[in-house]
Amino acid sequence: MAGYTDTLFRLLCKRHGADVLVTEFVMSDAIIHGSANAWNTIVFSDEQRPIGVQLFGRDPASMAHAAGLVAGRLRPDFVDLNFGCPADRAVAQGAGAALLLDPDRMVGIAKAVAMELGDHTPVTAKMRLGWDAAHLVVDDVVPRLADAGVSAVTIHGRTREQGYSGEADWDAIARVAAAVEIPVVANGNITRSEQVHHFMTRTAVRGAMIGRAALGEPWIFSSIRKHLESGMTPESPGLGMRWHSILEYARLQDSVFHPEKQDHSIGWMRSRLCRLVKGMPGSGELRSGIHRVETMEDLSALAEEYLSFRGERLDDRGSVL
Ligand SMILES: Cc1cc2nc3c(=O)[nH]c(=O)nc-3n(C[C@H](O)[C@H](O)[C@H](O)COP(=O)(O)O)c2cc1C
Repeated sequence: MAGYTDTLFRLLCKRHGADVLVTEFVMSDAIIHGSANAWNTIVFSDEQRPIGVQLFGRDPASMAHAAGLVAGRLRPDFVDLNFGCPADRAVAQGAGAALLLDPDRMVGIAKAVAMELGDHTPVTAKMRLGWDAAHLVVDDVVPRLADAGVSAVTIHGRTREQGYSGEADWDAIARVAAAVEIPVVANGNITRSEQVHHFMTRTAVRGAMIGRAALGEPWIFSSIRKHLESGMTPESPGLGMRWHSILEYARLQDSVFHPEKQDHSIGWMRSRLCRLVKGMPGSGELRSGIHRVETMEDLSALAEEYLSFRGERLDDRGSVL
């Protein structure tokens, strides 16, 4: 997710049990022109494998060229094509969700990228159901993408018009999954392990992609994993374990506390931390505390104070960090 799932956040998700990761999207032209920002966005460590790099653009030749450069330099496990970004900026360029109005171009991009990458790097795609309720294309397009050489498709069960609100249409995703040979991954509004269990046991859907829920609860992946393995809804992670993970994540991002080697500002870090404490009891007060945090020691002290007030302790059992 652009602006959120940087390399360290992805690592956090991986260590909490995510099977497959995808980078934030990068524009094909930025890759071709050697933009340091674009290339830094898609950096990953081997620990994050299997991982896909997501590309965004509207021109088949540029997308294929960028895919070839990325595959050659970084050797990702797959290259993912973005056919769903609803942002006005993306749509104005004719890319992202705008391609839902031009399925021929979408398929053309997929074909060009698949030909460029050949057998060595699989191509996947991520799309929405269509532009709006009057223009649903997913049933027609997914088989065409498969014919073009796409190995798996993630379907966000909303239209561009819906943006990120309203219910995702999971039945539509399951219908497509049942109709095609390639794996279909469900996305949109998945916030609980039960929902993934339902998809995996009752439908032809072969995977679930977690979006916003992971930003506040990166431990959701281990809950899902436990649920799929045992068939039972797991207990929610305790406060001590959550804090243990939060502190480890902050340590990974250590440079924010040192302005001289800073990649991100302390304000950036505080907003990430606020997301991670969302839903904890007393989270309003906790957020005020986070806004006063200046150093790693301040954060550790806040964790200790919070946990001792609630009669709990830092707990690394069940934590994977
Ligand atoms: C801030 C933000 C950034 C996103 N960036 C991307 C992106 O770079 N690539 C992509 O395929 N989807 C992106 N998405 C969409 C999510 O991957 C996902 O499809 C959408 O949020 C629906 O899933 P959810 O209900 O689980 O969040 C983004 C969503 C948000 C909220």
